[in-house]
Amino acid sequence: MGSTTDDQHAQVVEQKPFDAERGGRRRLLVTAALPYANGPIHLGHLVEYIQTDIWVRFQKLRGHQAIYVCADDTHGTAIMLRARKEGRSEEELIADMQRQHQRDFAGFQIEFDNYGSTHAPENYELCQQFWTALRQAGLIVEKDVSQLYDPEAGTFLADRFVKGTCPRCKSPDQYGDNCDKCGATYAPADLIEPRSVMTGATPEIRTARHLFVQLEKLHDFLSQWVQEDEHLQPEVVNYLLGHFLNEPLRDWDISRPAPYFGFEIPDAPGNYWYVWFDAPIGYIASTWQWCKRVGESLECWWRSPDTEVHHFIGKDIIYFHTLFWPGMLKTAGFNLPTKVHIHGFLTVGGAKMSKSKGTFVRAEIYLRHLDPSYLRYYFASKLGPRLDDIDLNFEEFEAKVNSDLVGKVVNLASRCAKFASRMGLSSRYPDDGGLFDHAARAGDAIAAAYEQCDYARAMRLIMELADRANPFVEQAQPWVLAKDPAREEELRDVCTVALNLFRQLAVYLAPVLPDLARKAGDLLADPIEHWQQSQQPLVGTEVQPFQHMLTRVNPKEIQAMIEESKEQDAEQAVGEHVSQEQNASADTDPWNDSDEPLKKEPLAPECTIDDFMKVDLRVARVVAAEEVPEARKLLKLTLSLGGEVRKTVFAGIKAAYKPDELVGRLVVCVANLAPRKMRFGVSEGMVTAAGEGGEEVYLLSPDSGAKPGQRVH
Ligand code: MSP
Ligand code: ZN
Repeated sequence: MGSTTDDQHAQVVEQKPFDAERGGRRRLLVTAALPYANGPIHLGHLVEYIQTDIWVRFQKLRGHQAIYVCADDTHGTAIMLRARKEGRSEEELIADMQRQHQRDFAGFQIEFDNYGSTHAPENYELCQQFWTALRQAGLIVEKDVSQLYDPEAGTFLADRFVKGTCPRCKSPDQYGDNCDKCGATYAPADLIEPRSVMTGATPEIRTARHLFVQLEKLHDFLSQWVQEDEHLQPEVVNYLLGHFLNEPLRDWDISRPAPYFGFEIPDAPGNYWYVWFDAPIGYIASTWQWCKRVGESLECWWRSPDTEVHHFIGKDIIYFHTLFWPGMLKTAGFNLPTKVHIHGFLTVGGAKMSKSKGTFVRAEIYLRHLDPSYLRYYFASKLGPRLDDIDLNFEEFEAKVNSDLVGKVVNLASRCAKFASRMGLSSRYPDDGGLFDHAARAGDAIAAAYEQCDYARAMRLIMELADRANPFVEQAQPWVLAKDPAREEELRDVCTVALNLFRQLAVYLAPVLPDLARKAGDLLADPIEHWQQSQQPLVGTEVQPFQHMLTRVNPKEIQAMIEESKEQDAEQAVGEHVSQEQNASADTDPWNDSDEPLKKEPLAPECTIDDFMKVDLRVARVVAAEEVPEARKLLKLTLSLGGEVRKTVFAGIKAAYKPDELVGRLVVCVANLAPRKMRFGVSEGMVTAAGEGGEEVYLLSPDSGAKPGQRVH
């Protein structure tokens, strides 16, 4: 093994498209990114592990063969230094962290088929296979690298371990790769007065030999791969084509000189594989462990055109998973990913998670206060197929859980179950006015939404069904029927309908709420194991005594959780988890947004959709623009709203835009603003822009294709 052949590639290209569901039972290998061993699991991580867990549970429920593998990502300088500081071995430290991670995942009902570690013998063996393949393909070259070195710690310093003053704008306390304040990117050695984040020592420059992968040699392959067969979401394809594949790919530095915690490179003693080399290989190693345990063959799972490989990752690690990793897999002759599903980042209350505000909530602390089902449902209701960030708003969290889960779903069962457990279900399914059939037919659309990772849509569709089911119970009033012994049959029929509608919801929600599904199965003495159970009502069976299913959210517990999460002296924002050297630097993380603007200008009080609709925003074209000599800041714009409609608007954008460059472009204007008389004329509207004013102004404009006069919603 080890070499690349064209047939291997041909096999992969012929792989079934991922939505070819009709062709029977699919074999699906599903992964979530391997969490770093040097930090605890927090709510941000959980977006991903829950998202993936839902997808895998959904596939299993549909009858496919799916496995969910993951592992701790254990190597790198950060772990080495921390173990040193704590006076124990790296092995002890990572074993300890792994226990914590697995405990937290289990607490959120995230169920892995195998949870491994990158520091495992299987991984070492696979790394060697990849390495041999890369060598044989002639992709490895050696180059000298000068890097900052911490003489006190006796180690080279990754970019994120150096801080100093920005060479461009002179802001103090900036990281070694880019400046938070002015956005400049530079090498750590360019910082003014650099110092080691670990020891405070002044770093020196030292040179060492590193090994590089010449990714450029795979350029054509990668350009093709990213664009074909919907391996990636469209916005990701555009990003890769526009940022990386439009120029030669840089050589990738994949070795680190000792001291380093990792695997030593067999043919380059004293050098270690960089953690990002062995981390993704950990996906295969973890699969291998599972194969050994259950007696499956690794070949079937990683070298077979019948297997679909699905990776779930966050948007900060796109580069590694869509360029390096496919390049490595191709070279070593393993299956290429069928799809890389990429999600956005979690914010809390509209801002990056913050330790000082208590919004950086660790999984462990959440579980001390709140039911994991709440978060699973809340995230599901927010997750779409795109890369948008997801905001956790605790008021919305409480409202959604209480009104949807408790109010609409659990209530359906709790209002009938106690009567039904006396009588059992009717022996024939009663006339329910078509409710059950309607909900059964909705199953396909719900399944399609899950498949596409559009869980928000799936949840909406399911809640629509709940909205139809509840009025049935309210009108039938089983609690009234129960008082009249003569109406026992009627009561039984009502309960039969309500519990069957409840069971349908529980099947559809089972990927998100396994606990609720289990309780529903217990209640009706018929475990929920297959999606098809939503298509046939249960009749003539016994009903078990009702056990409590889910309580309303207690807002006091939310407060207590936030209080417990507050850490003094922790001003640092942690949403982007820069905790380990290998993380996204400015040029690999296109969405490295800072949260400064939100700090300066917090979100306005909530408004209703009706409030919002009062503002009539329209697309407009600038047809003329001129300076207003008497006004320091203003330009006079003539806007066309399509047809003959013109508006004159004075806009404070003179410092940022020249009149000529504006003519012809599309903007978004507030079209129904009351006209305002100014010294130089009447302003009949407003153009929208972001920024602070002065030179810091960014006009908003629609994507091309929008037409003047169109309403902006
Ligand atoms: N160890 C690497 C992944 C190696 S995969 C071969 C890593 N680890 S991580 O612990 O930092 O992140 C694990 C996953 O959690 C990543 O996909 C990351 O995007 C995701 N998230 C971490 N913080 C997050 C949020 N605040 N919000 C959403 N996802 C986040 O990266
Ligand atoms: Zn700067």
